[in-house]
Amino acid sequence: MEHKENKTAVSMTVNGKHIQAEVLPETRLLDVLREELHLLGTKEGCSIGECGACTVLMNGRTVNACMVLAGSADGAEIMTIEGVCGPEGELHPIQQAFIDAGAVHCGFCTPGMIISTLSLLMKNPQPKDDQIQEALSGNLCRCTGYHQIFKAVRLASERMHRKE
Ligand code: FES
Ligand code: FES
Repeated sequence: MEHKENKTAVSMTVNGKHIQAEVLPETRLLDVLREELHLLGTKEGCSIGECGACTVLMNGRTVNACMVLAGSADGAEIMTIEGVCGPEGELHPIQQAFIDAGAVHCGFCTPGMIISTLSLLMKNPQPKDDQIQEALSGNLCRCTGYHQIFKAVRLASERMHRKE
C-alpha cells in the first residue's frame, strides 16, 4: 500500500465498538468511517465543512467528519447514524419523527440532520424554533425547504418529552 511507512495506528470507539485503523497523516475521520468501517450512512457532500452531510458525534459534540483528521480522533468516542437506532435496529424517536413529518426526501442530508438533532435534544430537550434553526444551521438540505425538518425536530422533542 502507498506511503505505508507514514501510517500510524489509531484507535477509537465507534458506535460502542472499539476499533483500530492504520491511517496516513492526511486520512480523515470520514475516510475511516466510510472506507475502513463501511459505515456509509455518514455522507460525503462538499468535503470542505460546508454542508453537514458528514456530521457525527465526537465525544458528544457534533463535528464534520470531512474536516477531522483521523489522527486527531485517536481515543475518541464517535457516534454515527448507524449507532442511533436501538439494539434490535428499532428506530430512534428522532428517526421516526423525520419519517412521520415527511422530512426525508432524497435522504442525503438526513443522517447529518438526525445527528445534529440528537445533539440538540440531548442538551436542550424542548428547543424553541430559533434554537432549532441555529442547531441545524450547519446542515444543508437541497430538497425540503427545511419546513418539514423543523417540524420533525419539534415532533421528536414532543414525543421524547412525553416519554420521560
Ligand atoms: S462533506 Fe463534510 S461538511 Fe460537507
Ligand atoms: S432530503 Fe434531499 S438533501 Fe435533504
